Amino acid sequence: MIRFNNVNKWYGDYHALRDVNETVKRGEVVIVCGPSGSGKSTLIRTVNRLEPINDGNIYVDGQDIYGNGVDVNKLRSRIGFVFQQFNLFPHMSVLRNVMLATIRVLKTDEKEAKEVALGLLDKVGLSVKAEAYPGQLSGGQQQRVAIARALAMKPPVMLFDEPTSALDPEMVGEVLQVMKQLAGEGMTMICVTHEMGFAREVADRLIFMADGEVLERATPQDFFERPQHPRAQRFVADIRHA
Ligand SMILES: Nc1ncnc2c1ncn2[C@@H]1O[C@H](COP(=O)(O)OP(=O)(O)O)[C@@H](O)[C@H]1O
Ligand SMILES: [Mg+2]
Repeated sequence: MIRFNNVNKWYGDYHALRDVNETVKRGEVVIVCGPSGSGKSTLIRTVNRLEPINDGNIYVDGQDIYGNGVDVNKLRSRIGFVFQQFNLFPHMSVLRNVMLATIRVLKTDEKEAKEVALGLLDKVGLSVKAEAYPGQLSGGQQQRVAIARALAMKPPVMLFDEPTSALDPEMVGEVLQVMKQLAGEGMTMICVTHEMGFAREVADRLIFMADGEVLERATPQDFFERPQHPRAQRFVADIRHA
């Protein structure tokens, strides 16, 4: 579904991604972890071309996304992206937030867009908040709306960049629960997260990055119990003591 082939990226002189070679199969859930500044966000942002790469190729569903003639808007509509900050439109109802992109980008008619949006709000447990405004919701609820909004485009792939890092601890579980459900339904997912419990329960595979390089690939169990690389060992020890 997604393939990174010798991907390199620089920010000026800084080598932010070093020879990344990874494949994510359809239906697979891959966790990316690593210390702050290791290139995790950069890596997943390259998948919908939020960050250009300087060398190598990335294929999504067989398409070389940095090839000639790629329609970037179309590409982005097929990749759901959930950020640490939810970025909902504050002046629009929750329902409108979820409907907006389908109407604008997919040209879905009003009635169908509304049905889809209500179905997704139900899925994330927020039907009752359809007419509320984002400011009236908790952070966890807003993040669940952001997930519903991404799903409205019916993307075959979902990318998550630390979706629970900005939340108060008591709200982390409700967001992870929605992600777990998605994973169970067979969604192809790449998640940047340090949530060990979630990783163990849901992830097929984990990759550990440091300084722009993938240093370790393992099952979450193996990674958290038997990290191999010294950097990975230090990282696991740090999150255990956090
Ligand atoms: N737009 C940018 N311009 C210059 N340097 C950047 C930019 N974005 C990220 N970086 C640098 O690239 C490295 C990786 O960043 P990032 O992918 O955000 O790491 P992570 O998500 O693992 O914390 C960091 O050293 C960061 O400072
Ligand atoms: Mg990041």
